[in-house]
Amino acid sequence: MEEKVTKRVIGLMSGTSCDSIDAGLCEVNPDMSVKLIHGINYSYPEHIRAKLFSAFRGEISIKELCQLNFAVGKCFADAARILIEEFGKPDLISSHGQTVYHYPYDEKLDNISLKSTLQIGESSVIAKETGCTVISNFRENDIASGGQGAPLVCFADEKWFKNSLVQNIGGISNVTVVSDECETFGFDTGCGNLMIDYCVQKFFSKKYDHGGEIAASGNICESWLDCLLQDEYYFIEPPKTTGREYFSNKYTENILKTAPSDPADIIATLTALTAKTIAQAYERFVYPNVHADTVIIGGGGAYNKTMMKFLKSYLPKRLELKTHEDYGISNNFKEVMAFALLGYCTFYGIPNNVPSCTGANKRTILGKITY
Ligand SMILES: Nc1ncnc2c1ncn2[C@@H]1O[C@H](COP(=O)(O)OP(=O)(O)O)[C@@H](O)[C@H]1O
Ligand SMILES: [Mg+2]
Repeated sequence: MEEKVTKRVIGLMSGTSCDSIDAGLCEVNPDMSVKLIHGINYSYPEHIRAKLFSAFRGEISIKELCQLNFAVGKCFADAARILIEEFGKPDLISSHGQTVYHYPYDEKLDNISLKSTLQIGESSVIAKETGCTVISNFRENDIASGGQGAPLVCFADEKWFKNSLVQNIGGISNVTVVSDECETFGFDTGCGNLMIDYCVQKFFSKKYDHGGEIAASGNICESWLDCLLQDEYYFIEPPKTTGREYFSNKYTENILKTAPSDPADIIATLTALTAKTIAQAYERFVYPNVHADTVIIGGGGAYNKTMMKFLKSYLPKRLELKTHEDYGISNNFKEVMAFALLGYCTFYGIPNNVPSCTGANKRTILGKITY
């Protein structure tokens, strides 16, 4: 095998929230440590973002999806080019792409599996626009290996952290349990900011609840919260993943039928829901297996002060609540750094899925390389 050296890798990522393309120039080292040199949040042009949300609702044609794949590739390239103009060409670009559909279910038709995932943002466009080698399409090979194609960031968490619950709160929330007592495992705990964003947009015409201020101005409706906590997803044993396909706008509209009348109370309760489902997931699936005393929060939810306050109140007192920033890792660019590492491993042919997290039947090299 080629001897590994430090490489400069631009990680590109847009999550379920679709809030921005996060781009980060990283230095990835042979010991698997990653240093962020500079990161930017690049906004999609509004018409592309609108098209993506139409895609999430299943309201675009195959023709439009075909076009969107190339258009999103161009946006990802534009984000990368901002970093390239300032810092020069990297050795590699590693792109997660934009998930438009994720179907992690073991459903079969005539013995043909329907389990699948689709990340768009054509890697050929990124490669040609930037002149860089691009690693992309990580999730497919895990699914082809019997896994759910997610969560993939666990691979980085395992390298970077010790004896901690590494909790990401993006559109969806997911945890990686890194412990000396067992193999690393991880799963999606449930919704993160997705339903909050939808309702903040609907009732307050804002993109998100900055700092958790709206939630702080309302009251938790305990009876509605109890009702929301009954959703069957929260009771399923890991490995499990979820997404916009499940916690969809339709799902949100449906739960709103029984919501309290004050919109601020709705936001407060949905914020509590994310915090409570995280706490309950630990009680059900983590504490019975491992002793934990540190939770490290990352993702946009880490900036929601009300969510952090609720989470603190729901977690056992002995748990220390930290953020990635406490470890010198940006909350904002952590996933970008993780995908820079995944791309680095793909380049060197190092298996980079974690079967105990995704349910895959073996370790495998994820990703495709475009020259
Ligand atoms: N300053 C902030 N205050 C409150 N919430 C925030 C803040 N910044 C980001 N968020 C929330 O985090 C979301 C984006 O989180 P992110 O980790 O990028 O998720 P994803 O991976 O799904 O894109 C936003 O949609 C918003 O709900
Ligand atoms: Mg995001």
